[in-house]
Amino acid sequence: MIDLSGRLALVTGGARGIGKATAIRLAESGADVIVNYVSSQEAAEEVANTVSKIGRQAATVKADVSEPEDIASMFDFIGERFGKLDILVSNAASGGFRSLMDASPTNFASAMNTNVRATMLLAQAARPLMQNTSPGNTGYNRKIVAMSSHGSHRALPAYGLIGASKAALESLVRHLALEIGPDGINVNTLLAGLVETDSTSRFPGAEQAFEVVRGRRVTGGNELTTNAVADAILFLCSPLSDLVQGQTLVVDGGEALHG
Ligand SMILES: NC(=O)c1ccc[n+]([C@@H]2O[C@H](COP(=O)([O-])OP(=O)(O)OC[C@H]3O[C@@H](n4cnc5c(N)ncnc54)[C@H](OP(=O)(O)O)[C@@H]3O)[C@@H](O)[C@H]2O)c1
Repeated sequence: MIDLSGRLALVTGGARGIGKATAIRLAESGADVIVNYVSSQEAAEEVANTVSKIGRQAATVKADVSEPEDIASMFDFIGERFGKLDILVSNAASGGFRSLMDASPTNFASAMNTNVRATMLLAQAARPLMQNTSPGNTGYNRKIVAMSSHGSHRALPAYGLIGASKAALESLVRHLALEIGPDGINVNTLLAGLVETDSTSRFPGAEQAFEVVRGRRVTGGNELTTNAVADAILFLCSPLSDLVQGQTLVVDGGEALHG
C-alpha cells in the first residue's frame, strides 16, 4: 500500500482534469494537498473540500504559473503556512490548438512559459522547501512529476506549440534530475495518452482521435481515464519509484506500441 501520510503535495492546475484526479488520489493515499488554480477558483475549492473530507489538510492557491512573480508568491504562502514541500506535480499546461503557421511570438512564449519554464521555476522554488531537514521530515525522497504527451515526439495537427513545449519539458526533467537528484529528489515525466478532459474535448477532430486511440490500445478494453493517469502519477510520487530517476513513463494503454 502507498502511504503518503505526513507528506505535503502541490498540484498545479489541480482544479480540473488530470490535476483534480491527482490531487484526490494523493489525498486518498494520505498526503496533504495544495490545489493551485489560475481561473477555476470554485472548482479548486471543491477539490480542496474533497481533500478535507478525506481527512487531509487542504489549501487552494491562485497563481499563474507562467508568471515568475505568481510562482514566488505561491511559494511564500507554502513556506509560511507549511514550511516544507514533499511532492510537486507540475501539471498545468496551456498553449491553444493552432497551426504553427498562424502562431505569433506571443503564442510561442505563452506555451513555453506555461508548459516548460514554469516547471523550472517551480523546481527552483520547491528545492529549499524539499530540503527542509527538521526532525520528522527526513529519510524519504521528495518527488517532482511533470506531465507530457505523445506530441513531444509525434507531429499532430494544430499541436505544434504544445508538442514542442512537451519535448523541451522532457529534456528539462532529465536535466533537473541530474542537478537535484543527489538531494534525494526524484524528477520524472508522466507521458499520458489521450484522456477525456476539458482541453481534449476542444481538440480539433477530438472524436475521431479518441476513436483511433481506443482501437490502438491493448488493455482489454480498459479506458484511459484521469483516474488511471493519476494512479501512475501516484506511483511516481511514492517511495515505490525511489529508483526511477529522470525518466518519461508512458501511460497510454499500449497505444504507442504500434509505432
Ligand atoms: N488530457 C490529455 O489527453 C492529456 C494527455 C497527455 C498529457 N496531458 C497533460 O496533462 C496535463 C493536464 O491536462 P488536462 O487535460 O487535465 O488539462 P485541462 O483539463 O485542460 O486543465 C488544464 C489545467 O491547467 C491549468 N492551467 C492552465 N494554464 C495555467 C497557468 N498559466 N497557471 C496555472 N494553471 C494553469 C488550468 O487551471 P484553471 O482551470 O484554473 O484555469 C487547468 O486546471 C497537461 O500538462 C496536459 O498537457 C493531457
